[in-house]
Amino acid sequence: MPISQTPHKEQQLRQLIELLVDGDFHSGQTIADELGVSRAYVWKLIQQLQEYGLGLESVSGKGYCWNDPSALFDKNSLDRQLAELSITQDYYLLTDSTNQRLKQSFKDQHLVLAEFQTSGRGRRGRSWQSPLAANLYFSYGWRCELPVQQLGGLSLVVGIAMVEALQALGWSGLKLKWPNDIRHRHKKLAGILVELTGDAAGGLEVIIGAGLNVNMLAEQSAISQDWTSLAQLRGELVARESLLLAIMRQLQQHLMDFEQKGFAAFIDNWNQYDETLGSLVELSQGKRSIEGIARGVDAFGALLLEVDGKLESHYAGEVSLRLKV
Ligand code: BTN
Repeated sequence: MPISQTPHKEQQLRQLIELLVDGDFHSGQTIADELGVSRAYVWKLIQQLQEYGLGLESVSGKGYCWNDPSALFDKNSLDRQLAELSITQDYYLLTDSTNQRLKQSFKDQHLVLAEFQTSGRGRRGRSWQSPLAANLYFSYGWRCELPVQQLGGLSLVVGIAMVEALQALGWSGLKLKWPNDIRHRHKKLAGILVELTGDAAGGLEVIIGAGLNVNMLAEQSAISQDWTSLAQLRGELVARESLLLAIMRQLQQHLMDFEQKGFAAFIDNWNQYDETLGSLVELSQGKRSIEGIARGVDAFGALLLEVDGKLESHYAGEVSLRLKV
């Protein structure tokens, strides 16, 4: 469920995180004075941050201290490295949804990155769990001259870019499930939500949102489907900055190729990671579902499904795909 907060409370939570980021103790009274609220209200805010996953220590007579503020991104270092890719960024400690931020104020080659999302959005109206400083939650703005009909394969290309970037950093066994889940041994590792605004005849504003589970712990998540994180795969915490930069580098390259050559140029890349290729699957759309053998994707990124010996193309839209085993 999304966590709904008034903009004012969001602002107060953000201020509180900014105070605690030095890793020192802050008394309830100092915080109350800084924020212009009562001590009882400070306690409520502290509780809220703990629910969000912030590791806070509370010692009577000393106040509150954040155990591990180093877990946050180093914004200046990120700024510098993104500038080398000609990418600008907005960094939020806390926001509703990075896709939403970018939609409200779209910029080309611009990254919106958050440590925490109160209303992270997934595909098909789902929410996206976003515990504080645990994972990657970002949205990238891309102004694209292609007509909307040619964008069918875009979210698949984003998935390919992410898997290839991770693979180059030594992560193996990663798979893609059409249209855009990244999985490891059938457990979800990352999800992609592409949204479009602007002019359907060209000059579209594309918002590429992605969430990658990096360091999320079981107790930080209430996700119903099977999921995993990079930390679970490796058995130790994983630094997020190099992951993000590698993904952005690969994404930029692939977006350029996609604009020039279309999705057809990515079919082989897709097939290499396709989790369902040759398997019996069930495709659901609302109450309707079809069973068939997954036969990869076509030149527009549509799923090829073999049903009663015939090949059918299915477009992503609001459909979901399940392996039948
Ligand atoms: C899915 O698999 O359902 C897609 C999940 C996409 C989640 C990311 S997190 C960053 C960006 N902001 C959002 O609100 N959603 C996407």
